[in-house]
Amino acid sequence: MTTPDLFAPDDAVARRLADLRQTLHTWAHQYYVLDEPSVPDAEYDRLFKELQTLEGSRPHLITPDSPTQRVGGKPLDAFAQVRHAVPMLSIRTETDTTAAGAENFDARMRRELGLSDADPAIEYMAEPKFDGLAMNLRYEHGVLVQAATRGDGETGEDVTQNIRTMGQIPLRLPPDAPAVLEVRGEVYMRRDDFEALNTRQRQKIAAGAKGEKTFVNPRNAAAGAVRQLDPAVAAQRPLSFFAYGLGEVTAPEQGGPRWDTHQVLLASLKSWGFPVCALVKQAQGAAKLVAYYESIGRQRETLGFDIDGVVYKVNNLALQRQLGFVTREPRWAVAHKFPAQEMLTTVLAIDVQVGRTGKLTPVAKLAPVFVGGVTVTNATLHNEDEARRKDVRVGDTVVVRRAGDVIPEVVSVLLDKRQGNPEPFTMPHICPVCGSVALREEDEADYRCTGGLFCSAQRKQAILHFAQRRAVEVEGLGEKLVDQLVDAGIIHTLPDLYRLGLSALANLDRMADKSAQNIVDALQKSKQTTLPRFLFGLGIRHVGEATAKELARHFGQLDAIMDASEEQLLEVADIGPVVAHSIRTFFDQPHNREVVEQLRACGISWPEGSPAERVSTPLSGKTLVLTGTLPTLAREDAKALIEAAGGKVAGSVSKKTDYVVAGAEAGSKLAKALELGVPVLDEVALKQILL
Ligand code: IVH
Repeated sequence: MTTPDLFAPDDAVARRLADLRQTLHTWAHQYYVLDEPSVPDAEYDRLFKELQTLEGSRPHLITPDSPTQRVGGKPLDAFAQVRHAVPMLSIRTETDTTAAGAENFDARMRRELGLSDADPAIEYMAEPKFDGLAMNLRYEHGVLVQAATRGDGETGEDVTQNIRTMGQIPLRLPPDAPAVLEVRGEVYMRRDDFEALNTRQRQKIAAGAKGEKTFVNPRNAAAGAVRQLDPAVAAQRPLSFFAYGLGEVTAPEQGGPRWDTHQVLLASLKSWGFPVCALVKQAQGAAKLVAYYESIGRQRETLGFDIDGVVYKVNNLALQRQLGFVTREPRWAVAHKFPAQEMLTTVLAIDVQVGRTGKLTPVAKLAPVFVGGVTVTNATLHNEDEARRKDVRVGDTVVVRRAGDVIPEVVSVLLDKRQGNPEPFTMPHICPVCGSVALREEDEADYRCTGGLFCSAQRKQAILHFAQRRAVEVEGLGEKLVDQLVDAGIIHTLPDLYRLGLSALANLDRMADKSAQNIVDALQKSKQTTLPRFLFGLGIRHVGEATAKELARHFGQLDAIMDASEEQLLEVADIGPVVAHSIRTFFDQPHNREVVEQLRACGISWPEGSPAERVSTPLSGKTLVLTGTLPTLAREDAKALIEAAGGKVAGSVSKKTDYVVAGAEAGSKLAKALELGVPVLDEVALKQILL
């Protein structure tokens, strides 16, 4: 059918409108519910636009189930109260997180139904317990007329405007749906949607937006969205839905559906366009319920959404009716919870722990709390910024989260429970383990202990670094051995390594005499080293092999390096303020100097040179940049000649460049040299200097 013109008779326009709505409903269902888009977004947009235009010309033909009506409501002052036609019940909760939780339920059902051991297993439906909020969707003659929250079970709030904005919720049902149908299910937010939403919120806050906040978890975000008074805002919040039950439905006697089991009922809901979770399974008897509980428990972390347990329901609806209700809970269903992943507890102290690389991590010491299946007494605050953002203080009541194998973390503080005015947390500027200065560098989130070799928390790492092949190389000294030596208290500092006797080594677990002798030999061998290897081995932050070589060449002797000021260090090619500062800070720690002295006293030695300035190589201390093709020298050869003459070859031209050596087809580097006034040499001039 083609688009009628705007002056066409009402009935022609109405037919086209119906046609457009039907097509758009189908596409939306494929996109939002089945996750199988059938047309490009642009095609959907095109028809949507046509529908909007036509409806704009005939407002009296707009129907509440039109896709254009998903967003369009005006902000409300408050939600209207809705009395539920059928009360929204709660569900009995089984908190025993062992198999007994399921077994007790099955035993109770068998007892209530008067079954003996000889009778067959009861058939159940097992479903995830979605962690969102319950919703009642009322359809009359196939059109969504009302969406209401659970409220107290008797009376909820009318949130139709907001729920309409959800693509997963059908606005209109196929013709075989009953005249009155109330579908119940859970509105929730997917984890990825939640993360994306919080990222957007953080950006808004950073841009100075007022009244915006981030959300603690997907459930809170979903609840906030459903209770938005402005549907335009709600429409921006990505909500999802799973159907799991019914409210009022036209009775079979009045032509309504006649279902035998919960399972077929769910199949009908699915056929009418409602999302039904694919994890819903039939299960016979207690053993299958237990298997389901354990299987879903294992998948919990990898699901796209939060669940807090599973729900078991007697499948047969006649048996459900027979079992009936106790007060406000059906007898035929139970929620079997998983261990909670979030719990409240109080902060006893805030400690700072030092990691293997010197990273300082603020850690909240907690009153013991059972969360995520274990007792938690520590929770990470990650770093200074996170600790400040969450503003955790001693004495606070906090939400602690432990999900899967992830380290427990403090999610948020319950500010209204704060007593008095405890001190805000401040990150210490000295290492709590060794007392060395702790530094946080620009653009980095973490403070790091500068104690290096002296800091016990960093000792293992430091020893391995020192012993590695590119440093002094102690063959056979691997991670396991270092762990053993440090844990047994045999090695406290790096020099202790060289005081190791054969017997101390041979006494270690799983250490044969031969291996012990090999280590002793390797240690002996490592004592003859070079200054660059030794310097690199010290593990000074930012001092890699290349910088170590540069330092050795520039200063010639270790004492000169240890005593150099930051200004003097800056004179070394390729050393900038960050590296200079790091070297200075390292050697300002008396413990580090002591370690160096002791290593020397243990016999570590290297051939010391004289400072580069006094070495009469023609290019000592000079930085050159090669560009273009030289007439006779290949680039590698030119580089080798320059380095042999004490010079250094850098990749880019700066004010610190001493010469640019230019050949044929030199480009931007030559231009830069000319711009900065850096002397330019050709191959002949270079060779003259090298002579
Ligand atoms: S059936 C009469 N099935 O759990 C039984 N409820 O107290 C009605 N929930 O807030 C509930 N997942 O929103 C049922 N698969 C599921 C569920 C589920 C989550 C929520 C429900 C309600 C609470 C029950």
